[in-house]
Amino acid sequence: MFTYNSRNDMTASTAAFWQIPWLKPLNDVEAWNRVLQLANRTWSLTEVRARVLSVVRECADAVSLHLKPNGRFKGFVPGQYLSLTLPCNGVLKSRSFSLSKAPARDGSLRLTIRIKHDGSVSKAAAELKAGDVVTIGQAMGEFTLPEPERGVLLLSAGSGITPMMAMLQDWAGRGKRPDVVLVHSCRHASDWIFREELQTLVHRWPELRVHSRFSARDGRLHTDDLAALVPDYAERDTLLCGPEGFMADIAGHYRAHGLSARLKQEHFQAFKTEIRPDAPEYRVFGADGQAAFTARNGQNLLEAAERQGLNPAHGCRRGICMTCTCRKLGGTVHNQLTDTLSGDGDEWIQLCVSTPVSDLHLEMTP
Ligand code: FES
Repeated sequence: MFTYNSRNDMTASTAAFWQIPWLKPLNDVEAWNRVLQLANRTWSLTEVRARVLSVVRECADAVSLHLKPNGRFKGFVPGQYLSLTLPCNGVLKSRSFSLSKAPARDGSLRLTIRIKHDGSVSKAAAELKAGDVVTIGQAMGEFTLPEPERGVLLLSAGSGITPMMAMLQDWAGRGKRPDVVLVHSCRHASDWIFREELQTLVHRWPELRVHSRFSARDGRLHTDDLAALVPDYAERDTLLCGPEGFMADIAGHYRAHGLSARLKQEHFQAFKTEIRPDAPEYRVFGADGQAAFTARNGQNLLEAAERQGLNPAHGCRRGICMTCTCRKLGGTVHNQLTDTLSGDGDEWIQLCVSTPVSDLHLEMTP
């Protein structure tokens, strides 16, 4: 309301009016946000802010935050996630967490968070209380399957159950009830997030088949076990979410058997870079033809650019949100997410999952 753009029709005299020193605060959105938040801490002209309705301990190292966002929140599709920003030792930090409940009529959300021993945001989240107000982002992510067209297999481990729970609730709530098998692994029965909630769901949806595996007792789930538990798994649309090692095993098996098209994955962690000691270094040129930064093979372009003082637009850092998408004008990259090589010409790439295999020309977002 109080912002203006010099490209608009606003006259120079009006612009000059707002430059009068004592009127400048009226043109300051952040100042207005601070004023609004004196009246109600969830009000903001720019941010999605949410009141904490309750904090529920799901197991020893996981909590759920029940949140009521302000009107700036645009909604979500089950399977998506959003960022949560909290002060950690005086510094604002953001991390992404899955929405673990289907969209609710009252607009409330549930974020379920694994508390990591080295995770400052997850630890701060576990200490929130009802009535606190937090900043969240809009929902992001492509890990969704709104209307299944065939049988579905949900494969989760640990906190990988969280997006699955939102999808199951959503299907059950809409009376869809597709042919679904859930295979969930965790260390012990006591670590099983949403165990009781799933049992309640199975009462309402008896065709839903749930298999559990406790790795401390049964060992890690292997693909041979999968074939025994779900003999028709190759025919099902499969959604996979869990720790990286678990996902790599399953994804490798699907790839080896030509089933990758059936598999959709959600990675919780940013892509880790593995750079061989002898990995070659390549130059990355901007659209102006000037060298902008260098990156070694194995290092993703987002991280390389940041290490050299650039700040490309980004969100999830794991190949999902597409915020880091950038036009490549020339050169070849390896996509670490899909394990594919690009062409050497003009095309769009994602900086956070692309590593160079030649010098590159990019049209970087400033
Ligand atoms: S930062 Fe989200 S896809 Fe790259």
